[in-house]
Amino acid sequence: MEIELSCNSYAFESLTVEPFNAEPPRSALISSYVTPVDFFYKRNHGPIPIVDDIESYYVSICGLIENSKDLFMRDIRMLRKYNITATLQCAGNRRTAMSNVRTATVAQEEKMIMLSPGLTSYEMQHAVWSGAKLADVLELVGIPNLTSVTRSGGKHVEFVSIDKCKEENGGPYKASIPLSQATNPEADVLLAYEMNGEAQYSVVALFLVVWATSCLNPVELTSWLTLNSNAYSKFFLSIIMPKPLNRDHGYPLRVVVPGVIGARSVKWLDTINILAEECQGFFMQKDYKMFPPSVNWDNINWKSRRPLMDFPVQHNTETCWLTVRNLLTRGRECDEAWKDPQLLYNLQAKVSGYAVSGGGRGIERVDISVDGGKNWVEASRYQKTGIPYIADHMSSDKWAWVFFEVIIDIPHSTQIVAKAVDTAANVQPESVETIWNLRGVLNTSWHRVQVRVGHSNM
Ligand code: MTE
Repeated sequence: MEIELSCNSYAFESLTVEPFNAEPPRSALISSYVTPVDFFYKRNHGPIPIVDDIESYYVSICGLIENSKDLFMRDIRMLRKYNITATLQCAGNRRTAMSNVRTATVAQEEKMIMLSPGLTSYEMQHAVWSGAKLADVLELVGIPNLTSVTRSGGKHVEFVSIDKCKEENGGPYKASIPLSQATNPEADVLLAYEMNGEAQYSVVALFLVVWATSCLNPVELTSWLTLNSNAYSKFFLSIIMPKPLNRDHGYPLRVVVPGVIGARSVKWLDTINILAEECQGFFMQKDYKMFPPSVNWDNINWKSRRPLMDFPVQHNTETCWLTVRNLLTRGRECDEAWKDPQLLYNLQAKVSGYAVSGGGRGIERVDISVDGGKNWVEASRYQKTGIPYIADHMSSDKWAWVFFEVIIDIPHSTQIVAKAVDTAANVQPESVETIWNLRGVLNTSWHRVQVRVGHSNM
């Protein structure tokens, strides 16, 4: 087991190297509906493990079941393959803003991450995950679909990883979900071995190679093929075969629990345990829980709260972010606009971003205000180009984020605000102060962007 940074770190605004944590710049995150793998945030609690002998790699399924079983990758690949489009979000997303409210009570082990500017602000991404449904895997060990309790009393499914974390005193990262969710095919819980349908890129590469070789002299090409047929077929096979999961994101196998905080999507899966009670690991019992504002490090009772599952809860149901283009916000674009007097009249901005809700709930509305929240306009929403977005309709991706945009006049320097509403009418809370909590989780407060508009003397 070793640490190795395998991402293109140039794409990231901030990093902590050990454990490896990184996130993309905001502009990269909303540049496409499906996030390119290089722009995925990385959230790790221990060194990234390397699994190089895929033939001998297997997942043990054990605990409160009649027959335990070891499943090799070939067994998992034999099951029907599903492609699930899902947004993954860390419960600590936008934690930096929460730590600014009360920094004194930040947990020691999270201090480095929370105080890094920018980090934990864009811990969200959207991918097409491919693999076997957990419900199908559990059927192999005799647990039928839609089971809430096994004959031996199993009610929870624990995922244990290969990586080792200091929070677990050197033991593996682990988390659990209820058995009823794991055995529900509609919940789309996956054991994923591929992400972003990368085979499609490989097919493009194949066409390019065929095109290039067809430009060669056919006689030369035939003799070369005859001499190298074995190597050539191996090469072609390697590019048409789907690319596996990226190592940073759980190669060779990770759990993906759609609509639930990222902490339950355990990477580098080692064991699936059927338990009577939920997992007792640190990340279920001591982190990724939300405590009331009155709780501090002196009076905390860890058992008093449930582990977070669906993101976000109740009034904090969506997170939405803004980008403001053609405005005097920051960077080069802003300086140029500031110098050009024409841009200072009838200034319009495209306000855009994404919104998402947990539990498979769609986005009903996104409201934008350019006067700090007194008056609002509704933004348009979309997922895939050319397909109108209808929340909770079968044509939309239910586990996925929704992009929004609106073109709006900005008459003077102001604060632009956005809030999203989901199909259960849950609305984001107005301020981070009202939802502050010791662990710094689920900051879903209205996102605000301050803009500065100049005036010409002409
Ligand atoms: N799984 C393991 N084995 N180890 C980890 O540290 N981090 C969790 C989850 N699964 C973690 C893990 C957390 S907190 C999140 S938010 C997601 O993985 C992040 O997934 P990503 O790094 O692929 O984006």
